[in-house]
Amino acid sequence: MNNNNGKKIIIEGPSVLKGKVDVSGSKNAVLPILAATLITDERCTVRNVPDLGDISTMISMLEILGKKVNRENSCVVIEPFKDLKGEAPYDLVKKLRASILVMGALAGRKNKIRVALPGGCAIGTRPIDLHLKGLRKMGAEISVSGGFVNLRSRGLAGATIYLDYPSVGATENLVMAACHAKGRSIIENTAREPEVMQLVDFLKEMGVRIEVSGNTLTVYESGKLKPVDFTVMDDRIQAGTYLVAGGINGSQVEIGFKDSWSLEAVIEKMIECGADIRTDTGGIYIKGPDALKSTEVRTSPYPGFPTDLQAPFISLLATASGVSVITEEIFESRYLHCAELMRMGAEIEIKGHSAIVTGVRGLSGAPVTAQDLRGGASLILAGLAAEGRTEVSGVYHIERGYENIVENLRNLGANIWEE
Ligand code: EPZ
Repeated sequence: MNNNNGKKIIIEGPSVLKGKVDVSGSKNAVLPILAATLITDERCTVRNVPDLGDISTMISMLEILGKKVNRENSCVVIEPFKDLKGEAPYDLVKKLRASILVMGALAGRKNKIRVALPGGCAIGTRPIDLHLKGLRKMGAEISVSGGFVNLRSRGLAGATIYLDYPSVGATENLVMAACHAKGRSIIENTAREPEVMQLVDFLKEMGVRIEVSGNTLTVYESGKLKPVDFTVMDDRIQAGTYLVAGGINGSQVEIGFKDSWSLEAVIEKMIECGADIRTDTGGIYIKGPDALKSTEVRTSPYPGFPTDLQAPFISLLATASGVSVITEEIFESRYLHCAELMRMGAEIEIKGHSAIVTGVRGLSGAPVTAQDLRGGASLILAGLAAEGRTEVSGVYHIERGYENIVENLRNLGANIWEE
């Protein structure tokens, strides 16, 4: 996609936010759930689907693979339409890495499939070796050539698979493949992100027998599946981004997000920085401190601090008193936003996997460029904190994961608009 499609998000800072914001459905739960509809020929109704480019791309993928998809606002109905195809084309996979999630569902249903390799992106090479290792354990013969994964099998067989790393995508792909694998599959050291558990809940609603015990998932070969009507949880990372925004300039924000349990690590860190936070079944209420305190953050798989909120958090720490150390343990190059933040006056030194952030009295607005989704969000937050005009380009990155972020922040009192 064209990075400089001209649109810019402009922020005249500093802004003090006040009011309530709601978030849309979880992008990273909906994407695997849409892929999982390939497992069944029954009707699937998925509700609380956000209006994001990534979702539209996944819907196009389902249509190419033989599904009929009707979308009405945030409700998506998926039904069988033509015979299931076995090829996921490169032009869609390169737009949406998560398209690789169709591989597991297809592998369980077709003896021959061809899925384009996703390739890397700004935050890392994004390998899929763990996905392929698990599918081989289930009996798939896999070759990689010409940028495609070619998978053959005479039907998958249940297996015991140990994931060397609790990969979100590998867990999701292997759970979906196991639904049609003969017998029983035990997947160990799985990811436990809430979005992964949403996929598990969706499959259970569909009639798949799955047992969850800590980070081990046991999946049984499914018999007759049934139509499913599932409402997806709200987006944890969007909610976390607004939570971080609520810590800036002594803002006071209510986030209408009922699953605050899924953001415990972030809430704890915000409290360490001096924020006053309370939660109830309706949402999260934050009052930012007059002066932010520095802290240490280390990203890790759930329930640790989510890597997707590392970039927004650095924007908050840029004006915290003292020196903060953020260590990104998940992706190999997820600091592209730091160079942009330094253009706004932030003092950041990258040392190996860590970013050493020396708090400054204030940031100043500047033209900056989003290089990836969460890095783009961090530049907007920095623009809220900064004195003067910030112009964020590379807006399409941001729109992939945040529904109505400009309108939401404007409704909270920010002086922000799109040009
Ligand atoms: C999912 O990506 C999310 N995407 C990411 O969100 C999120 O950052 C990530 O999980 C971690 O929580 C979706 O859910 C669509 P991983 P995924 O497999 O599945 C290595 C966002 O901003 N790895 O857990 O790709 C990999 O290189 C996006 O919404 C292997 O080495 O994450 C990475 O270093 C960004 N081999 C680490 O594991 C493999 O086979 C985490 O990857 C697979 C992964």
